[in-house]
Amino acid sequence: MKNVTRINKAVFPVAGLGTRFLPATKAQPKEMLPVVDKPLIQYAVEEAYGAGIRHMIFVTGRNKRAIEDHFDTAYELESELEAHGKKELLALVRSLAPEDMFCSFVRQPRALGLGHAVLCAQPLVNDEPFAVLLADDLMCGPDGGPSVLGQMVEQFAKTQTCILAVQEVPRDHVKRYGIVAGQPAGERLTKVEKMVEKPNPDQAPSRMGVAGRYILTPGVFDMIRNNPRGAGGEIQLTDGIARLMTTEGVHAYLYQGRRYDCGSKQGFLEATVDFALKHDEVGPEFREYLKSVKF
Ligand code: UTP
Repeated sequence: MKNVTRINKAVFPVAGLGTRFLPATKAQPKEMLPVVDKPLIQYAVEEAYGAGIRHMIFVTGRNKRAIEDHFDTAYELESELEAHGKKELLALVRSLAPEDMFCSFVRQPRALGLGHAVLCAQPLVNDEPFAVLLADDLMCGPDGGPSVLGQMVEQFAKTQTCILAVQEVPRDHVKRYGIVAGQPAGERLTKVEKMVEKPNPDQAPSRMGVAGRYILTPGVFDMIRNNPRGAGGEIQLTDGIARLMTTEGVHAYLYQGRRYDCGSKQGFLEATVDFALKHDEVGPEFREYLKSVKF
């Protein structure tokens, strides 16, 4: 593979069933749940765009049409806003799909797991390194610093290997994550030697849990395809990456910033409060409101 300094494609697997958020997700995708005024998927697309990526590939399923519409032109809405002179709102709506951004959609016919969802994107990714963003993990870089994916692209330019975003997780939470362990390979970087999906705390090789941001090399596709079903009967991305480690290097990067697990109610609520407090329009009044809440 020639030296690559820029990642051009991002895959957004959005075909999951979102059972932890029922009934809200019965007829609408969980990735369209808004944190304050923006759906989760838009935060993830903006993070990818900010990291230099221009081709967004969505792996969708049933009930996901709202995501396609969100990034498409909305003629009726735009002409209404134009006719009423609502220029700021019009600019806001149009900014969702910048002219140099290209969106593709591919269906995952059955929710067979994250690995399978990524495999569905292979014909669109072809033979180049790509990013994977799980939109239900809402990631914030440090104040004024690069986004989490931006940090990972920088690391990729140095290592030319898969980069997994990791964070330290409490011991009693390791069962919720892919857990990695290995040898130090630079500042915040670990050469991964072991990777296990959702281990029991006494079998976990470390407390480094993988968050929903990956940069992967195209070799991962064959590794996913040739793998048997893993934990929970699903085709796991973790298993594919673990197999890739036998032929290529894989690095874990301890990202700077914060993750909100918006696939869970608790994480979603925490994100809503933090983002509302920082929001230009509603922040000051919301802060006053929170002060008045009696616990
Ligand atoms: P999750 O397991 O967090 O999502 O998968 P889920 O299955 O939608 O949610 P719950 O657990 O039932 O509440 C992580 C990501 O992988 C995608 C999901 O959309 C989510 O973004 N995914 C998962 C797929 O695209 N296809 C799958 O078969 C499974």
